[in-house]
Amino acid sequence: MTTFKTLGQFIIEKQADFPYAKGELSRLLRDIGIAAKIVNREVNKAGLGDILGDAGAVNVQGEGQKKLDVYADEQFIRALTSGGECCVVASEEHEHPIYINSDVSKNAKYIVCIDPLDGSSNIDVNVSVGTIFSIYRRRSTGGQAMPEDILQPGNQQVAAGYVVYGSSTMLVYTTGNGVNGFTLDPSIGEFCLSHPDIRIPDQGYIYSINEGNYKKFSEGIKKYIKYCEAEDPQTRRPYASRYIGSLVADIHRNLLLGGIYMYPHTLSHPQGKLRLLYECNPIAFIVEQAGGKATNGTERILDLIPNQLHQRCPCFMGSKQMVDMVESFIQRVD
Ligand code: AHG
Ligand code: MN
Ligand code: MN
Ligand code: MN
Repeated sequence: MTTFKTLGQFIIEKQADFPYAKGELSRLLRDIGIAAKIVNREVNKAGLGDILGDAGAVNVQGEGQKKLDVYADEQFIRALTSGGECCVVASEEHEHPIYINSDVSKNAKYIVCIDPLDGSSNIDVNVSVGTIFSIYRRRSTGGQAMPEDILQPGNQQVAAGYVVYGSSTMLVYTTGNGVNGFTLDPSIGEFCLSHPDIRIPDQGYIYSINEGNYKKFSEGIKKYIKYCEAEDPQTRRPYASRYIGSLVADIHRNLLLGGIYMYPHTLSHPQGKLRLLYECNPIAFIVEQAGGKATNGTERILDLIPNQLHQRCPCFMGSKQMVDMVESFIQRVD
Protein backbone atom coordinates (compact mmCIF):
# COMPACT_ATOMS: atom_id res chain seq x y z
CA MET A 1 0.00 0.00 0.00
CA THR A 2 1.31 3.47 -0.85
CA THR A 3 1.36 5.70 2.20
CA PHE A 4 1.06 9.44 1.80
CA LYS A 5 2.51 12.05 4.05
CA THR A 6 0.01 14.74 4.90
CA LEU A 7 0.88 18.44 5.00
CA GLY A 8 0.37 18.37 8.79
CA GLN A 9 2.80 15.45 9.24
CA PHE A 10 5.34 17.06 6.91
CA ILE A 11 5.24 20.37 8.78
CA ILE A 12 5.74 18.64 12.15
CA GLU A 13 8.64 16.59 10.74
CA LYS A 14 10.33 19.72 9.40
CA GLN A 15 9.88 21.49 12.70
CA ALA A 16 11.87 18.72 14.39
CA ASP A 17 14.90 19.96 12.35
CA PHE A 18 14.78 23.15 14.46
CA PRO A 19 14.76 21.98 18.10
CA TYR A 20 14.41 25.54 19.44
CA ALA A 21 11.47 26.44 17.22
CA LYS A 22 8.30 26.79 19.22
CA GLY A 23 5.99 25.68 16.45
CA GLU A 24 4.39 29.05 15.67
CA LEU A 25 5.31 28.96 11.98
CA SER A 26 4.06 25.38 11.75
CA ARG A 27 0.74 26.43 13.24
CA LEU A 28 0.52 29.41 10.90
CA LEU A 29 1.09 27.20 7.86
CA ARG A 30 -1.48 24.74 9.16
CA ASP A 31 -4.04 27.58 9.56
CA ILE A 32 -3.40 28.69 5.95
CA GLY A 33 -3.88 25.08 4.81
CA ILE A 34 -7.26 24.89 6.58
CA ALA A 35 -8.49 28.19 5.07
CA ALA A 36 -7.35 26.92 1.64
CA LYS A 37 -9.57 23.84 2.06
CA ILE A 38 -12.57 26.04 2.90
CA VAL A 39 -11.96 28.24 -0.16
CA ASN A 40 -11.43 25.13 -2.28
CA ARG A 41 -14.86 23.83 -1.24
CA GLU A 42 -16.50 27.05 -2.45
CA VAL A 43 -14.43 27.27 -5.68
CA ASN A 44 -15.35 23.68 -6.50
CA LYS A 45 -19.07 24.24 -6.42
CA ALA A 46 -18.88 27.81 -7.68
CA GLY A 47 -21.35 27.26 -10.52
CA LEU A 48 -24.01 25.85 -8.19
CA GLY A 49 -24.43 28.50 -5.54
CA ASP A 50 -24.73 32.24 -5.66
CA ILE A 51 -21.00 32.80 -5.47
CA LEU A 52 -20.13 33.69 -9.07
CA GLY A 53 -20.01 37.23 -10.39
CA ASP A 54 -19.22 40.67 -9.08
CA ALA A 55 -19.41 41.68 -5.46
CA GLY A 56 -20.31 45.21 -6.55
CA ALA A 57 -17.31 46.91 -4.93
CA VAL A 58 -13.96 48.11 -6.26
CA ASN A 59 -10.69 47.42 -4.41
CA VAL A 60 -7.84 49.86 -3.85
CA GLN A 61 -6.27 48.92 -7.21
CA GLY A 62 -9.44 49.97 -9.00
CA GLU A 63 -10.37 46.35 -9.85
CA GLY A 64 -13.99 45.22 -9.56
CA GLN A 65 -14.11 42.64 -6.76
CA LYS A 66 -15.66 39.26 -7.45
CA LYS A 67 -17.78 37.59 -4.78
CA LEU A 68 -15.10 34.93 -4.47
CA ASP A 69 -12.40 37.59 -3.94
CA VAL A 70 -14.38 38.76 -0.94
CA TYR A 71 -15.17 35.25 0.31
CA ALA A 72 -11.55 34.04 0.05
CA ASP A 73 -10.31 37.22 1.75
CA GLU A 74 -12.74 36.68 4.65
CA GLN A 75 -11.71 33.05 5.09
CA PHE A 76 -7.97 33.70 5.18
CA ILE A 77 -8.32 36.71 7.45
CA ARG A 78 -10.55 34.76 9.81
CA ALA A 79 -8.05 31.87 9.97
CA LEU A 80 -5.11 34.23 10.55
CA THR A 81 -6.99 36.35 13.10
CA SER A 82 -8.09 33.43 15.22
CA GLY A 83 -4.86 31.40 14.87
CA GLY A 84 -2.86 33.62 17.24
CA GLU A 85 0.45 33.41 15.31
CA CYS A 86 0.05 36.48 13.09
CA CYS A 87 -0.06 40.10 14.27
CA VAL A 88 -0.84 41.81 10.95
CA VAL A 89 -2.25 40.78 7.59
CA ALA A 90 -1.81 42.76 4.38
CA SER A 91 -4.30 41.71 1.71
CA GLU A 92 -4.84 42.73 -1.91
CA GLU A 93 -8.45 43.40 -1.01
CA HIS A 94 -7.78 45.95 1.79
CA GLU A 95 -6.28 49.37 1.34
CA HIS A 96 -4.63 49.28 4.77
CA PRO A 97 -2.97 46.49 6.74
CA ILE A 98 -5.19 44.69 9.25
CA TYR A 99 -3.60 44.81 12.70
CA ILE A 100 -4.82 41.98 14.90
CA ASN A 101 -5.15 43.42 18.36
CA SER A 102 -6.45 40.49 20.37
CA ASP A 103 -4.41 39.58 23.46
CA VAL A 104 -3.07 36.42 21.82
CA SER A 105 -2.19 37.99 18.48
CA LYS A 106 -0.85 41.45 19.14
CA ASN A 107 2.50 40.10 20.33
CA ALA A 108 2.61 37.37 17.69
CA LYS A 109 5.77 36.94 15.65
CA TYR A 110 4.56 36.78 12.08
CA ILE A 111 3.27 39.06 9.32
CA VAL A 112 1.31 37.66 6.36
CA CYS A 113 0.86 39.32 2.95
CA ILE A 114 -1.81 37.64 0.87
CA ASP A 115 -3.51 37.58 -2.51
CA PRO A 116 -6.59 35.65 -1.35
CA LEU A 117 -7.87 34.86 -4.84
CA ASP A 118 -5.50 35.20 -7.77
CA GLY A 119 -6.83 35.16 -11.32
CA SER A 120 -10.32 35.99 -10.15
CA SER A 121 -11.39 37.13 -13.63
CA ASN A 122 -11.17 33.42 -14.56
CA ILE A 123 -13.52 32.13 -11.90
CA ASP A 124 -16.79 32.72 -13.75
CA VAL A 125 -15.59 30.54 -16.65
CA ASN A 126 -14.29 27.61 -14.59
CA VAL A 127 -10.59 28.25 -15.20
CA SER A 128 -7.95 27.68 -12.50
CA VAL A 129 -7.51 30.31 -9.81
CA GLY A 130 -5.20 30.46 -6.81
CA THR A 131 -4.10 31.97 -3.51
CA ILE A 132 -0.63 33.41 -2.85
CA PHE A 133 0.89 34.04 0.59
CA SER A 134 4.11 35.46 1.98
CA ILE A 135 5.26 35.27 5.61
CA TYR A 136 7.72 37.56 7.41
CA ARG A 137 8.96 37.73 10.97
CA ARG A 138 8.02 41.05 12.59
CA ARG A 139 10.85 43.48 13.25
CA SER A 140 9.33 45.50 16.07
CA THR A 141 9.17 43.88 19.48
CA GLY A 142 5.96 43.71 21.51
CA GLY A 143 2.81 45.79 21.23
CA GLN A 144 1.11 46.58 17.96
CA ALA A 145 3.13 45.87 14.81
CA MET A 146 4.52 48.84 12.87
CA PRO A 147 4.29 49.73 9.15
CA GLU A 148 7.97 48.79 8.72
CA ASP A 149 7.08 45.26 9.75
CA ILE A 150 5.14 44.97 6.50
CA LEU A 151 7.45 46.80 4.09
CA GLN A 152 10.31 44.29 4.25
CA PRO A 153 12.23 43.17 1.15
CA GLY A 154 11.36 39.73 -0.19
CA ASN A 155 14.75 38.34 0.86
CA GLN A 156 13.44 38.50 4.45
CA GLN A 157 10.56 36.08 3.82
CA VAL A 158 10.56 33.09 6.14
CA ALA A 159 8.00 31.20 4.07
CA ALA A 160 5.90 31.65 0.95
CA GLY A 161 3.46 29.54 -0.96
CA TYR A 162 0.53 29.29 -3.28
CA VAL A 163 -2.56 27.19 -3.65
CA VAL A 164 -3.77 26.35 -7.15
CA TYR A 165 -7.45 25.43 -7.37
CA GLY A 166 -7.14 23.52 -10.64
CA SER A 167 -8.12 20.17 -12.08
CA SER A 168 -6.81 19.07 -8.71
CA THR A 169 -6.03 21.42 -5.85
CA MET A 170 -2.43 21.80 -4.76
CA LEU A 171 -0.55 23.69 -2.09
CA VAL A 172 3.09 24.47 -2.88
CA TYR A 173 5.35 26.16 -0.34
CA THR A 174 8.88 26.88 0.76
CA THR A 175 10.47 27.82 4.05
CA GLY A 176 13.78 28.57 2.34
CA ASN A 177 14.92 24.97 2.08
CA GLY A 178 13.53 23.81 -1.27
CA VAL A 179 9.97 23.65 -2.54
CA ASN A 180 7.41 20.96 -1.84
CA GLY A 181 3.98 20.40 -3.37
CA PHE A 182 0.92 18.75 -1.79
CA THR A 183 -2.19 17.60 -3.61
CA LEU A 184 -5.57 17.73 -1.87
CA ASP A 185 -7.10 14.28 -1.61
CA PRO A 186 -10.79 15.15 -1.45
CA SER A 187 -11.72 11.72 -0.09
CA ILE A 188 -9.83 12.34 3.16
CA GLY A 189 -9.74 16.15 3.05
CA GLU A 190 -5.96 16.30 3.42
CA PHE A 191 -3.13 17.83 1.40
CA CYS A 192 -0.72 14.93 0.73
CA LEU A 193 2.90 15.24 -0.36
CA SER A 194 2.86 14.54 -4.09
CA HIS A 195 5.70 16.71 -5.47
CA PRO A 196 8.71 16.57 -3.11
CA ASP A 197 11.64 18.90 -3.81
CA ILE A 198 10.34 20.62 -6.96
CA ARG A 199 13.16 21.75 -9.31
CA ILE A 200 12.51 23.98 -12.31
CA PRO A 201 14.54 22.99 -15.41
CA ASP A 202 17.34 25.49 -16.19
CA GLN A 203 16.03 25.83 -19.72
CA GLY A 204 12.39 25.57 -20.74
CA TYR A 205 10.44 25.79 -23.97
CA ILE A 206 7.33 27.70 -22.86
CA TYR A 207 6.89 31.47 -22.70
CA SER A 208 3.93 33.05 -20.93
CA ILE A 209 2.94 36.65 -21.49
CA ASN A 210 -0.22 38.58 -22.36
CA GLU A 211 0.67 39.24 -26.02
CA GLY A 212 -2.38 41.44 -26.42
CA ASN A 213 -0.20 44.14 -24.87
CA TYR A 214 2.52 43.65 -27.54
CA LYS A 215 2.33 47.16 -28.96
CA LYS A 216 2.84 48.66 -25.50
CA PHE A 217 6.00 46.69 -24.74
CA SER A 218 9.48 48.17 -24.94
CA GLU A 219 11.70 47.25 -27.90
CA GLY A 220 13.70 44.75 -25.82
CA ILE A 221 10.61 42.77 -24.83
CA LYS A 222 9.26 42.85 -28.40
CA LYS A 223 12.57 41.47 -29.69
CA TYR A 224 12.61 38.75 -27.03
CA ILE A 225 9.09 37.68 -28.08
CA LYS A 226 10.27 37.53 -31.70
CA TYR A 227 13.21 35.41 -30.50
CA CYS A 228 10.78 32.98 -28.78
CA GLU A 229 8.72 32.73 -31.98
CA ALA A 230 11.67 32.27 -34.36
CA GLU A 231 12.32 28.89 -35.97
CA ASP A 232 15.57 27.28 -34.78
CA PRO A 233 15.59 23.49 -34.28
CA GLN A 234 18.92 23.58 -32.42
CA THR A 235 17.45 25.62 -29.56
CA ARG A 236 14.02 23.95 -29.91
CA ARG A 237 12.38 27.17 -31.08
CA PRO A 238 9.73 28.31 -31.64
CA TYR A 239 8.81 27.93 -27.97
CA ALA A 240 5.21 27.16 -27.05
CA SER A 241 3.13 30.15 -25.97
CA ARG A 242 0.95 29.35 -22.93
CA TYR A 243 -0.96 32.00 -20.97
CA ILE A 244 -3.86 31.25 -18.65
CA GLY A 245 -4.17 34.69 -17.07
CA SER A 246 -3.91 33.33 -13.52
CA LEU A 247 -0.40 33.99 -12.25
CA VAL A 248 -0.52 30.96 -9.94
CA ALA A 249 -1.60 28.54 -12.66
CA ASP A 250 0.89 29.95 -15.20
CA ILE A 251 3.74 29.76 -12.68
CA HIS A 252 2.77 26.28 -11.50
CA ARG A 253 2.92 24.88 -15.03
CA ASN A 254 6.23 26.58 -15.81
CA LEU A 255 7.74 25.46 -12.49
CA LEU A 256 7.01 21.83 -13.31
CA LEU A 257 7.77 21.90 -17.05
CA GLY A 258 10.28 24.75 -17.37
CA GLY A 259 9.45 28.09 -18.94
CA ILE A 260 9.34 31.83 -18.40
CA TYR A 261 6.49 33.98 -17.07
CA MET A 262 6.59 37.69 -17.92
CA TYR A 263 4.47 40.65 -16.88
CA PRO A 264 6.68 43.48 -18.14
CA HIS A 265 6.57 47.20 -17.68
CA THR A 266 4.92 49.04 -20.56
CA LEU A 267 5.46 52.58 -21.66
CA SER A 268 2.21 53.62 -19.96
CA HIS A 269 2.64 51.31 -16.90
CA PRO A 270 6.33 51.46 -15.97
CA GLN A 271 5.71 49.19 -12.98
CA GLY A 272 3.72 46.52 -14.82
CA LYS A 273 0.60 45.06 -13.22
CA LEU A 274 1.55 42.51 -10.58
CA ARG A 275 1.91 43.55 -6.96
CA LEU A 276 5.31 43.23 -5.27
CA LEU A 277 4.31 42.20 -1.77
CA TYR A 278 1.73 39.49 -2.34
CA GLU A 279 2.34 38.37 -5.93
CA CYS A 280 5.95 38.95 -7.09
CA ASN A 281 7.87 38.36 -3.83
CA PRO A 282 6.28 35.08 -2.77
CA ILE A 283 6.43 33.66 -6.30
CA ALA A 284 10.04 34.88 -6.70
CA PHE A 285 11.01 33.13 -3.44
CA ILE A 286 9.45 29.86 -4.63
CA VAL A 287 10.99 30.12 -8.11
CA GLU A 288 14.47 30.77 -6.67
CA GLN A 289 14.10 27.98 -4.15
CA ALA A 290 13.25 25.64 -7.04
CA GLY A 291 16.48 26.69 -8.80
CA GLY A 292 15.02 29.36 -11.09
CA LYS A 293 15.46 33.12 -11.38
CA ALA A 294 13.13 36.10 -10.78
CA THR A 295 13.94 39.68 -11.75
CA ASN A 296 12.22 42.94 -12.66
CA GLY A 297 14.29 43.00 -15.87
CA THR A 298 17.45 44.34 -14.27
CA GLU A 299 17.34 43.60 -10.54
CA ARG A 300 16.56 40.58 -8.36
CA ILE A 301 12.93 40.94 -7.22
CA LEU A 302 13.74 39.70 -3.70
CA ASP A 303 16.21 42.57 -3.15
CA LEU A 304 13.78 45.38 -4.01
CA ILE A 305 12.93 47.64 -1.07
CA PRO A 306 9.17 48.15 -0.93
CA ASN A 307 7.73 51.55 -0.06
CA GLN A 308 4.01 50.94 -0.51
CA LEU A 309 1.74 48.08 0.39
CA HIS A 310 0.13 47.77 -3.04
CA GLN A 311 3.08 48.79 -5.23
CA ARG A 312 3.52 47.05 -8.55
CA CYS A 313 6.59 45.49 -10.07
CA PRO A 314 7.53 44.25 -13.56
CA CYS A 315 8.43 40.58 -13.43
CA PHE A 316 10.33 37.94 -15.39
CA MET A 317 10.40 34.63 -13.58
CA GLY A 318 11.16 31.01 -14.34
CA SER A 319 13.91 28.88 -15.89
CA LYS A 320 17.25 30.53 -15.22
CA GLN A 321 18.60 30.53 -18.77
CA MET A 322 15.38 32.00 -20.16
CA VAL A 323 15.38 34.84 -17.61
CA ASP A 324 19.06 35.50 -18.38
CA MET A 325 18.15 35.70 -22.07
CA VAL A 326 15.26 38.17 -21.65
CA GLU A 327 17.48 40.33 -19.42
CA SER A 328 20.11 40.44 -22.15
CA PHE A 329 17.45 41.62 -24.63
CA ILE A 330 16.22 44.30 -22.19
CA GLN A 331 19.74 45.56 -21.55
CA ARG A 332 20.70 45.58 -25.21
CA VAL A 333 17.92 47.89 -26.37
CA ASP A 334 16.34 49.72 -23.42
P1 AHG B 1 -5.84 39.13 -9.23
O1 AHG B 1 -6.94 38.27 -9.79
O2 AHG B 1 -5.35 38.64 -7.90
O3 AHG B 1 -6.19 40.60 -9.20
O4 AHG B 1 -4.54 38.96 -10.13
C1 AHG B 1 -4.64 39.17 -11.51
C2 AHG B 1 -3.29 39.06 -12.12
C3 AHG B 1 -2.73 37.66 -12.27
O5 AHG B 1 -3.42 36.61 -11.73
C4 AHG B 1 -2.70 37.42 -13.75
O6 AHG B 1 -1.57 36.71 -14.10
C5 AHG B 1 -2.73 38.77 -14.33
O7 AHG B 1 -3.42 39.58 -13.43
C6 AHG B 1 -3.42 38.75 -15.64
O8 AHG B 1 -3.38 40.01 -16.17
P2 AHG B 1 -3.85 40.29 -17.67
O9 AHG B 1 -5.31 39.97 -17.70
O10 AHG B 1 -3.54 41.74 -17.84
O11 AHG B 1 -3.03 39.42 -18.57
MN1 MN C 1 -7.61 41.54 -8.03
MN1 MN D 1 -3.28 38.11 -8.19
MN1 MN E 1 -6.43 38.54 -6.11
